[in-house]
Amino acid sequence: MLASEVPAAPATPASHPSAKTVWDTKTQQYHGGQEWSFLDNFVEDFSVTTNGLGIPQKALQAAREALDVCHHYPAADQEPAKTHLAKFLHPESHTGIHSRLLLGNGASELIDLVTRAAPEGPWKPGPWPVQYKEYERSAIALGRTVLPPNDPTPASLTCIVNPNNPTGDYMHIEDLKAWIESTVADNTVVMVDESMQPWHSPAFQSDSLISQSEWLADLYATRGIAVYIMHSWTKLWSCTGLRLGSLVCPTVEHCTKLKKVQVPWSVNVPALKFLEVVTSDAEADFLAETWDVTPKWRKSLVDRLLAMGAKQSWEVRGEDFLSWVWIDMRDEKVAADAIVRAKRAGVPVRSGVPGYGCHTCVRAAVRKPEQVDVLLSAWEGLVDQQ
Ligand SMILES: Cc1ncc(COP(=O)(O)O)c(C=O)c1O
Repeated sequence: MLASEVPAAPATPASHPSAKTVWDTKTQQYHGGQEWSFLDNFVEDFSVTTNGLGIPQKALQAAREALDVCHHYPAADQEPAKTHLAKFLHPESHTGIHSRLLLGNGASELIDLVTRAAPEGPWKPGPWPVQYKEYERSAIALGRTVLPPNDPTPASLTCIVNPNNPTGDYMHIEDLKAWIESTVADNTVVMVDESMQPWHSPAFQSDSLISQSEWLADLYATRGIAVYIMHSWTKLWSCTGLRLGSLVCPTVEHCTKLKKVQVPWSVNVPALKFLEVVTSDAEADFLAETWDVTPKWRKSLVDRLLAMGAKQSWEVRGEDFLSWVWIDMRDEKVAADAIVRAKRAGVPVRSGVPGYGCHTCVRAAVRKPEQVDVLLSAWEGLVDQQ
């Protein structure tokens, strides 16, 4: 399709602000996932890294039914959802995890909580060229100085996203441990975001900090390094609107300290019910299918993108198991055009520009092949115009 044949963007009703105006860019951090509701021809949201299988239906039904009791407060101890999640995270030693686990209204709440509680001083990201921005946003909002990844100045708070959103970079467990040991200063705090790590495989724990309790305890005892493990559950279980996140603290004492300052009932009744069911045997098939189809859909998407961008040597980054691709289209104008065309076709993608400053890059979710067809036909002719 030539550029001139791309359908015109649907007129935006005056009552609908565009996604751009939804963010107060002076005070808020841009995030994907806002455009879908303004597109009259919306097909699928490629701008967020949620599961291509959509919402797990049994958990959704349980959350719907839980609305019937929304005239009651949620359980103050977040049970039984918390126990279910601990068992999901580490079936063999769930009691050790449970005593250090906190649930939150999305990971965002917990990122903010730890950033507030960590000792004052500079903040440093992981080693990646760009990293998910919420950690930095929270650090800046709380008055911390932001250091570049390779700055030798010790940081009070270090935050690494692994696997990294948006680039898809990933350190396997021994490399991650070595990076923490060599980069992080004694008596400081580290957050490791493993939100996308459970996509790894049914044995995801084997490559995760979740199964490194002894190493974590030793690191704290010998060097005073407190490592928190963060999970956003809004991607794996496609519940961004419901809001679910969790935090495994380094010790029970750290967990108690945070619980004291956490806003009560931040996880609502439907979200707790959703979590309880999604981590149970009732949704085991959903996860099995996720681990089966995501790498297949991703490979097909990558192959098609590489063929489409062969002339411009497009690069597609990220681990094979991930729910998105990070595409370097090598040209700012092409990347900008890709954003416009995707939106016009009802399949918005995430530009690499806002927040990340990657002008030649675009992030697209892994989705069902028939949905990918819509995106890729909108992109036909993108590189031919060069
Ligand atoms: C790596 C990562 N961590 C944390 C979050 C925060 O997610 P939420 O607050 O929806 O749980 C996101 C959202 O995009 C993310 O990509």
